[in-house]
Amino acid sequence: MSTAPWWSEAFGADYVDVYPHRDLASARAEAAFLVEQGLRGRVLDLCCGWGRHLIALAEAGLDVAGVDFSTELLTRLRNMPEAAHVAGRVVRGDARRVPFRDASLDGVVSLFSSFGYFGDEGDQELLDGTARVLVPGGLAFLDVMNPAFVRSGLVPESRTRRGEALLVERRSLAGAFVRKEVELQQAGAPPRTWREEVRMYEPAELDARVRAAGFRLEARWGGFDGSPFLPDSPRQLLRLRRAVG
Ligand SMILES: C[S@@+](CC[C@H](N)C(=O)[O-])C[C@H]1O[C@@H](n2cnc3c(N)ncnc32)[C@H](O)[C@@H]1O
Repeated sequence: MSTAPWWSEAFGADYVDVYPHRDLASARAEAAFLVEQGLRGRVLDLCCGWGRHLIALAEAGLDVAGVDFSTELLTRLRNMPEAAHVAGRVVRGDARRVPFRDASLDGVVSLFSSFGYFGDEGDQELLDGTARVLVPGGLAFLDVMNPAFVRSGLVPESRTRRGEALLVERRSLAGAFVRKEVELQQAGAPPRTWREEVRMYEPAELDARVRAAGFRLEARWGGFDGSPFLPDSPRQLLRLRRAVG
């Protein structure tokens, strides 16, 4: 069995087949909401994946950059015609060591559960690094799961047919972690299996962590539709401002 961290193996080129609803159309709507909520200027998408929000934010006139660890997703990005104008602005890197100078960005976004992968220390490093690269008064948007929503609706197993492919997902809870074992069976290829193991943060836990990183929590929504956060909201979307001085 591999001893590599799960996040270094889970996000292959077939991520797009597993999460087809996380597409460019939805990213455009989400980017529009973030811009409406004050995102502007030089913006980093931390854990940008195949770049759907980068494309959408660049279309909205922002000066974007992206960081991701997955070589396969970054290759996909570089091969997409829609991404031609952002491909040169993406680097492979580890989100715990944000590869930008101190106070060099106006905004940082971390979208679709790209947080909660790295243990207590690593998760805090990611938040500390996010604050470090922002100008004082700069904005971060953090979009994570709402643990109560995940717990109440967990589907232990699902089998989804996508064209010729079969996707089997087994989900379980272990304390604050939600685990998923994924098997993708595609015609003519050996099945690929991987796991995901994401630490879910209760709202109060997240508040303590972002404060410790030097952020002021300005807003928490239940999703990109701008609905107020409620105990049963699907998501927690936070707008954070790096403290001035
Ligand atoms: C759930 S996906 C979200 C991707 C993208 N934000 C989106 O909305 O489509 C999480 C992303 O985090 C990236 N990732 C995982 N561990 C990372 C790390 N240590 N440093 C940088 N990126 C990482 C993965 O490669 C993947 O693209």
